Amino acid sequence: MKPSEAVRLLRIKRPAPPYGAYSLARCYSIEDVARVARRRLPLGARAYLDTGGAGEYTLHRNRSALDLIEFLPHQPREVTSIDTTTTILGQRAPLPIVLSPVGAPRLFHHEGERAVARAACHAGIPYGVSTLATVPVEEIAANSKSPLWFQLYVWGDRRDAQRAVERARDAGFSALLLSVDTNVRATREREQHTGLDLPTPELAITTFLEGVLHPTWTWHFLTSEQISFPNIGPPDHRSREKIKGMFDGTVTWKDLEWIRKLWHGPILLKGVLRPDEAIRAAEEGLDGVVVSNHGGRQLDHVPATIDVLPDIVDAAGGRLEVLVDSGFRRGSDIAAALALGAKAVLVGRAHLYGLAAAGEAGVRHCIDILASELRTTMALCGTPTLSDLDRDILRLRPE
Ligand SMILES: Cc1cc2nc3c(=O)[nH]c(=O)nc-3n(C[C@H](O)[C@H](O)[C@H](O)COP(=O)(O)O)c2cc1C
Repeated sequence: MKPSEAVRLLRIKRPAPPYGAYSLARCYSIEDVARVARRRLPLGARAYLDTGGAGEYTLHRNRSALDLIEFLPHQPREVTSIDTTTTILGQRAPLPIVLSPVGAPRLFHHEGERAVARAACHAGIPYGVSTLATVPVEEIAANSKSPLWFQLYVWGDRRDAQRAVERARDAGFSALLLSVDTNVRATREREQHTGLDLPTPELAITTFLEGVLHPTWTWHFLTSEQISFPNIGPPDHRSREKIKGMFDGTVTWKDLEWIRKLWHGPILLKGVLRPDEAIRAAEEGLDGVVVSNHGGRQLDHVPATIDVLPDIVDAAGGRLEVLVDSGFRRGSDIAAALALGAKAVLVGRAHLYGLAAAGEAGVRHCIDILASELRTTMALCGTPTLSDLDRDILRLRPE
């Protein structure tokens, strides 16, 4: 073989880098992107991203329950055109996907929420922004024309929380997610093992070594603005203190009274795992619930969300929209949730891996992977539109 021919073959074999990011060129699944992300991140950020609560039983259960899903496809059926469009909270969306709210995304990539907002805008899907965002809500809004939802942690004497809601409202956010599974913060042993809260000499050495081993991350960390939480108060050391006291166990249904006075758009409860809470949410006039166990990061030993979803959908009875998250990594997982009655699926780590791997390009690539897998699943199931996805295409596992 002539050398020029070998070069040509090599060129043919090399896939085009998605959106110019070579690190993504051979990433065909979210797990592929996760591998790149884990290589790029230092130990502490890796632990924060992947950890579950306590013994991580729910973290694993989320995945094992989804892995056990079985489809019973309708064949043969014409599937020459696949339509993934839907409406979420009354707004048209090209995909039944929402990007989950996440605290401190700038720990994964220096652009943080700016990059995620641009990717969500490009895909035309909603983006949930955490109370613990690391970019001001006004700046995030300037980066996206897609719907933005504000996720609220309620804490303390409520005045700071009220100010945060007002700022999100004035910046044009369209929906409010009230997180109810975080009244106190769970223990997360993987994070604790990194010792990040303890200023010991061993930690200084580990941190230094980790910095050297992950030079790109370290460079951006040291040369971009310091990580802070600008939506809960002034960007100074006090915001860190505030976070420590944030999960103070004081959130109750009564909080809906003041929230409703400030917020006239849709309100969803995030972190619902019981049918009776979905019923109460409907009675309180809320617009939706997110069936979530916080990605397995809060109370351990709660069920996988896909296992409780059907009962919650039945209890809601069409009075409110039921969304779901926790453990979703593939388009086929999303198809299964929709078949069980979810309106849309929120994805947390499945966009964060992209953010950590390659910023905006990485998030866009992850959304594309999920969208393409969803389309393939729908075609192979013989269900060309989202409304064709129903419980009939799933086989319930024998008890
Ligand atoms: C690193 C990280 C930080 C998170 N921070 C928040 C947060 O600030 N507020 C919140 O309501 N949920 C938070 N979550 C939970 C997500 O919104 C979502 O429920 C969860 O990630 C879904 O599971 P998945 O990561 O398996 O998709 C966080 C999740 C992760 C992975």
